[in-house]
Amino acid sequence: MVLNPVMPNVLLLTVVLLCLWVSSGIASVSYDNRAIVINGRRRILISGSIHYPRSTPEMWPDLIQKAKEGGLDVIQTYVFWNGHEPEQGKYYFEDRYDLVKFIKLIRASGLYVHLRVGPYACAEWNFGGFPVWLKYVPGISFRTDNGPFKAAMAKFTKKIVDMMKAEGLYESQGGPIILSQIENEYGPMEYELGSPGRSYAKWAAEMAVGLGTGVPWVMCKQDDAPDPIINTCNGFYCDYFSPNKAYKPKMWTEAWTGWFTEFGGAVPYRPAEDLAFSVARFIQKGGSFINYYMYHGGTNFGRTSGGPFIATSYDYDAPLDEYGLKREPKWGHLKDLHRAIKLCEPALVSGDSTVISLGNYQEARVFKTKSGACAAFIANYNSYSFARVTFENMHFNLPPWSISILPDCKNTVYNTARVGAQSAEMKMTNVVYGNGFPWQSFNEEPAGYSDNTFTRTGLLEQINTTWDATDYLWYITDVNIDANEGFLRSGRYPVLTVLSAGHALHVFINGQLSGTAYGSLENPKLTFSKGVNLRAGVNKIALLSIAVGLQNIGPHFETWNTGVLGPVSLDGLNRGRRDLTWQKWSYKVGLKGEKLSLHSLSGSSTVEWVEGSLVEKRQPLTWYKATFNSPGGNDPLALDMSSMGKGQAWINGQSIGRYWPSYKATGKCNTCNYAGWFDEKKCLRNCGESSQRWYHVPRSWLKPTGNLLVVFEEWGGNPYGISLAKREVESVCADIYEWQPTLVNWQLQSSGKVNKPLRPKAHLSCAFGQKISSIKFASYGTPQGVCGSFREGNCHAHHSYDAFQKLCVGQQACSVTVAPEMFGGDPCPNVMKKLSVEAICS
Ligand code: GAL
Repeated sequence: MVLNPVMPNVLLLTVVLLCLWVSSGIASVSYDNRAIVINGRRRILISGSIHYPRSTPEMWPDLIQKAKEGGLDVIQTYVFWNGHEPEQGKYYFEDRYDLVKFIKLIRASGLYVHLRVGPYACAEWNFGGFPVWLKYVPGISFRTDNGPFKAAMAKFTKKIVDMMKAEGLYESQGGPIILSQIENEYGPMEYELGSPGRSYAKWAAEMAVGLGTGVPWVMCKQDDAPDPIINTCNGFYCDYFSPNKAYKPKMWTEAWTGWFTEFGGAVPYRPAEDLAFSVARFIQKGGSFINYYMYHGGTNFGRTSGGPFIATSYDYDAPLDEYGLKREPKWGHLKDLHRAIKLCEPALVSGDSTVISLGNYQEARVFKTKSGACAAFIANYNSYSFARVTFENMHFNLPPWSISILPDCKNTVYNTARVGAQSAEMKMTNVVYGNGFPWQSFNEEPAGYSDNTFTRTGLLEQINTTWDATDYLWYITDVNIDANEGFLRSGRYPVLTVLSAGHALHVFINGQLSGTAYGSLENPKLTFSKGVNLRAGVNKIALLSIAVGLQNIGPHFETWNTGVLGPVSLDGLNRGRRDLTWQKWSYKVGLKGEKLSLHSLSGSSTVEWVEGSLVEKRQPLTWYKATFNSPGGNDPLALDMSSMGKGQAWINGQSIGRYWPSYKATGKCNTCNYAGWFDEKKCLRNCGESSQRWYHVPRSWLKPTGNLLVVFEEWGGNPYGISLAKREVESVCADIYEWQPTLVNWQLQSSGKVNKPLRPKAHLSCAFGQKISSIKFASYGTPQGVCGSFREGNCHAHHSYDAFQKLCVGQQACSVTVAPEMFGGDPCPNVMKKLSVEAICS
């Protein structure tokens, strides 16, 4: 099959642009049916999402460097409107929101940028990136053909584009930004909204293009994206996708590397073999741009997580973990994939492609140029069985659900299901502080402050009342109980029922915590219904309603509700039910401790803190503080919050986010095989445990001594269980099949220097500063299991350990050839063997 010929007018355009560029010396970005064209060259581009506010500026250079080392050409990020314009007209571009600095660091490393201006992001980010004040612009309706919304969107988009231009950051100006994005996955929304949706999409496209960035715009999941905007695909697989015009390249803007975690949910992960398979599958079907969403997920610091119920960790099972460490084998396996793809680049961008069927579920895709470049991808789509296929008179063995890459159409350099990269097991090592942190506490009386209280008849919607300045809103009312009420004698308490639109609720009766209820991402609504201890006379009912991140996806953001909307009622009184919904309620926005800024150094000195025994009472609504010295070294740090309930934590005044370890993960955590279609429910961890136990403490937030840690606990956890830990490599593993392809062997074979099959090597490497201290497991034969839990199979070479003991112990890194003679001979001839090894790092 010959790929679509370049459309004549596009060819002309490219030629004109090329001439302009050559004659003016100005850089340019354009596209054709095959690829993005940078400075006249079609490129296969590998990109990865790193969202700048999800890490610290101090982490950025290392993340970018590791992305580059991992074979990325481009870094993609959203622009986070609510971080940049927290109050209407008041802009913020500092610290974690220093977008220009982030882009300049990427430029300095020689990578490109894909800037998704949005300004709608989604991204599991609070309110999808929209500032909450936008909801209160008169007449607003979000993401549709609405004057006030379009005006605000156009203004912010122009602000960002002008800022980039002023700094010379577009590639057309010699900068790193090669692509932009307007809106985000608007197609499904447009479908829902109909005609106003269509006019809005068209308007957004024209508005963006009118800004004259000099680089192409994309719209993801937007089948009708008007020219010259490129419509792109997002998903776990995108090989089936074609752009809406034959002269646009096939681009994948979100290749999901894993999935996000929600409080109450199990932790999703995606096997590296399947991710690599999906990428190879996309490239072999003519794709030329792939972006990993996320390459580094990072952390939802402060109150930035969306949802509701999105966890603070946005690790995403990405190639770089939440802390910025390489997640192996994913990082390494993708790096090897990128090298393999790049070896094919000349044939991919200008060759003609043919498809050859090699079996029911097997095929080869071959790219050949006139000048003789040839690259082939051989695929086995069968998820259950191996395939032995013949291609160009040679035999190839393909594991299930895998693709082999042959950059010379002869020798395999890579197979997506054969991981040559090492795996690593990580550990969290406690950094001990005597008997834990020296805590002091301050107990916040329920609804216990008098200023800023106001009264209304009936129940108020929460976000309209707080404007999301805090998670917390108090709803307080009095209930008079007659001394004749029967329950006072029978002891059968009346039942209080509270219906809330979400997200969590603590009920206090006369100052005592009476119970708690909360929703979930799937159903944020909640109902509290419980017998409550009322007494004769006036009783104070105080409901603490808590938002846990605002919804980030969908249409009409202006219509979503949070908080106690009622009805609220008491059952079991002499007269049956008493409806409390329409009586007088007083409101308090936020907590006393928030008003006093107890989380900060100056604020924390405004109240009397209690030491010792009172801390052990574990009261609800308690603030805890302690100071500690920073542990030495560079390993990333995290707080183990597993002894706590729900709340927020701060280090030196900076919020490390919401914590909620008492919300245990539901879901099915079966073992998961890489082969076969993946979705976010297929591979899960942590069932029955805390959805999130560890909370990242960025190193740069610490001083050598006297760091202030403040924790606000809603339920009454045990602060003495909190510890600080460092994240380290515990052990590294290799799991290598005999005859597995490698880059080095491919180079020897394709250069003609060697014309026999070559053995692969197992490479092991601990972190810098560590050494391999022992070999926990080694077996050449048919070992089973995965890194951390390998075991011997039926066939095992008795000298499997010897080479590793000799060549690896005491070294930071080592390599051992996977050949029978290294392990004392072939333990089972004619059986396919592999080597599994695990080495302890310390
Ligand atoms: C996509 C969206 C991203 C993110 C992702 C899930 O649909 O574009 O912003 O929300 O889903 O992580």
